[in-house]
Amino acid sequence: MRTYDGNGEGMGMEICAGNGSKIDVEAVKAVVKEAGKLFRDREAAGHTKTKGVADYVTEVDFAVQQFIYGKLQELYPEVQFMGEEKSNEEIDRAGLVWVLDPVDGTTNLIHDYRNSAVSLAFMDGGRIVMGIVYNPYADEMFWAAQGQGCYLNGRRVRVSSAEKMGESLISIGTSPYYKAMAEENFPVFQAIFMDCQDIRRTGSAALDLANAACGRIEGYFERGLKLWDFAAGMLLVREAGGLVLDYRGADAGTGNVSDIVAGNGRIPRILVEEYLGRV
Ligand code: IPD
Ligand code: CA
Ligand code: CA
Repeated sequence: MRTYDGNGEGMGMEICAGNGSKIDVEAVKAVVKEAGKLFRDREAAGHTKTKGVADYVTEVDFAVQQFIYGKLQELYPEVQFMGEEKSNEEIDRAGLVWVLDPVDGTTNLIHDYRNSAVSLAFMDGGRIVMGIVYNPYADEMFWAAQGQGCYLNGRRVRVSSAEKMGESLISIGTSPYYKAMAEENFPVFQAIFMDCQDIRRTGSAALDLANAACGRIEGYFERGLKLWDFAAGMLLVREAGGLVLDYRGADAGTGNVSDIVAGNGRIPRILVEEYLGRV
């Protein structure tokens, strides 16, 4: 993305990508919101397939991906499409790419736990320039564009200002598809639990990042996240003034898999320095 237009809230805003493509932010948000209606189909949510240990996909995941793919192809045929529920071998990261997690929080969806989201990022030459995380249950639309800030239902949001663990609510990611890591992870959860106000386990990485962006939690961390889990949420957090690091304390990148420590401007550093750097 090279330039921006508009009023900073996504109203009438276009994102101009390197090759001259213009992305109409409101049109893309409308597609995502419409796709969110598919989460209501309890019958489709009950049709599941197993992808790996504790890793499932439902007919809702496929339907959401198919819907968004079709609409974005119509609107922007020049932009490649990376989606969790498809093969992505042909993607050229040097170009323009949509990165979609159609349902982040599939286990929640299966159980009707009502804490799942659509996560869609737009990448230009390996950089995330726009991110959308939509929670259809709460009708909360989180949106950010590079250099433009982070918005929740049109209102600008920022990370919290807490500086101490004792005033922090921390969301843990259990890396459910890597059960073997539990032996290392759970002692760390316990140590953090002892020092912070309390911990949460929500079951949606995208919503954990969105909640950090709008100041509801101070920190969130998880090992082995995939790009579609964190791409949109990473931009939300950074545009809201927060940090998104890896477990060594460097700024997290946009590789296919990453360990993520995110949150406000201070707590992720404490998490890395005092608890996670040794994992
Ligand atoms: C998962 C969720 C979960 C996180 C996992 C993710 P999925 O995504 O974000 O909270 O712990 O690491 O893979 O499989 O529901 O799209
Ligand atoms: Ca996911
Ligand atoms: Ca998913």
